[in-house]
Amino acid sequence: MKFQYALKASASVAVLCIAAPMAMAEEVEVLHWWTSGGEAAALNVLKDNLEAQGVTWQDMPVAGGSGVEAMTVLRSRVTSGNAPTAVQMLGFDIKDWATEGFLGDLSEVADEEGWAEVVPPALQEFSKYDGKWIAAPVNVHSTNWMWINKSALDAAGGEAPETWDDLIAVLDKMQENGIVPLAHGGQAWQDGTVFDSVVLGLGDDFYKAAIIDQDPEALASDQMVEAFERMEKLATYFDPNFSGRDWNLASAMVINGEAGMQAMGDWAKGEFLRADLVPGEDFVCIRFPDTQGSVLFNSDQFAMFDVSEDKVGAQKLMASAVMDPDFQVAFNTVKGSVPARTDVADTEFDDCGKKGMADLAEAAQNGTLHGSMAHGHGASSNIKSAIFDVVTAHVNGEFSAQEAAEELAAAVEAAQ
Ligand code: GAL
Repeated sequence: MKFQYALKASASVAVLCIAAPMAMAEEVEVLHWWTSGGEAAALNVLKDNLEAQGVTWQDMPVAGGSGVEAMTVLRSRVTSGNAPTAVQMLGFDIKDWATEGFLGDLSEVADEEGWAEVVPPALQEFSKYDGKWIAAPVNVHSTNWMWINKSALDAAGGEAPETWDDLIAVLDKMQENGIVPLAHGGQAWQDGTVFDSVVLGLGDDFYKAAIIDQDPEALASDQMVEAFERMEKLATYFDPNFSGRDWNLASAMVINGEAGMQAMGDWAKGEFLRADLVPGEDFVCIRFPDTQGSVLFNSDQFAMFDVSEDKVGAQKLMASAVMDPDFQVAFNTVKGSVPARTDVADTEFDDCGKKGMADLAEAAQNGTLHGSMAHGHGASSNIKSAIFDVVTAHVNGEFSAQEAAEELAAAVEAAQ
């Protein structure tokens, strides 16, 4: 089996057939939530790559940003004894499945290909469990970004906002100009994504204390009240139909000029690129105001389940294909993310991608790289759900900022 998965993404089908004449029909069943235009385009890069190596792709898409629904479907599949070969998964969820003993072991392929030397330590934290590789990271995304329609920005004075006050000034101007200032989809994970950035905007130490360490004092602090006040202020710039809207439809509002900007992770860039827009010319990517120099990250990994022996070959082949440096460029330039390897050049990336790569390296160096809570890398999934509940209830007007901070501290404590 070993020589099969050692074949690189560039290997031809003919070579695979000669090298593995005994191979049964190789197939991977992949559960994922990449269903938007940009996401599907990126996924096709992987599908085509594997199909060119003779591996059939069984698609198991479960729509719903950030994978909340996908994880529910996965649970029922595994409970009925029918785990997929590979599953798109985020940070703490990978740890949970590993702890429960459901994941396979990719260590042989990982060691042979030297993954430990090239995968950033912040990612390895989630790709390995008990010394074994259990998942192959396909990218690094970051959540503290804003995506701005360039014409709308020009009409609002042309200066991209750097601070909270700048942001409010630009949003006010966009409102005067008759567009929706802030495109948003009212779904818990999207509310949580904005909340992540707002908390970080009040300081790295505050994000670490409140979100990563879940310090009760930070959770109920005046600073947290301020974070909720900022969320309230941002909500005044949403349009009346924000509730339940999918994130990619919010991106589309910025793309077509109906809205001025969106606070969203860099998967949004995949939508702008699919619409043939060019960074710097048609849209502008900036760090969420007051968070320059800091990066909230999440990494999509393919967690590999402990499957029957006849499926292990294709599984390892997929893991190897995911980690191939050329593939990481081809995939991430479409997806909006940056490579999960530190040895890939930024040459092929657009300006936002180059910035994403430089920011990631700098933040890792400076201790300002933190896991995104909303995307499974800042806190366990129980804590994440508890935070989502409070943040969404507050966005929907159920609590004042003061009450929300108190509720947050109580909900996090109860979830621990
Ligand atoms: C994130 C995931 C991204 C992106 C986004 C919206 O959690 O890491 O790849 O697809 O959800 O679906």
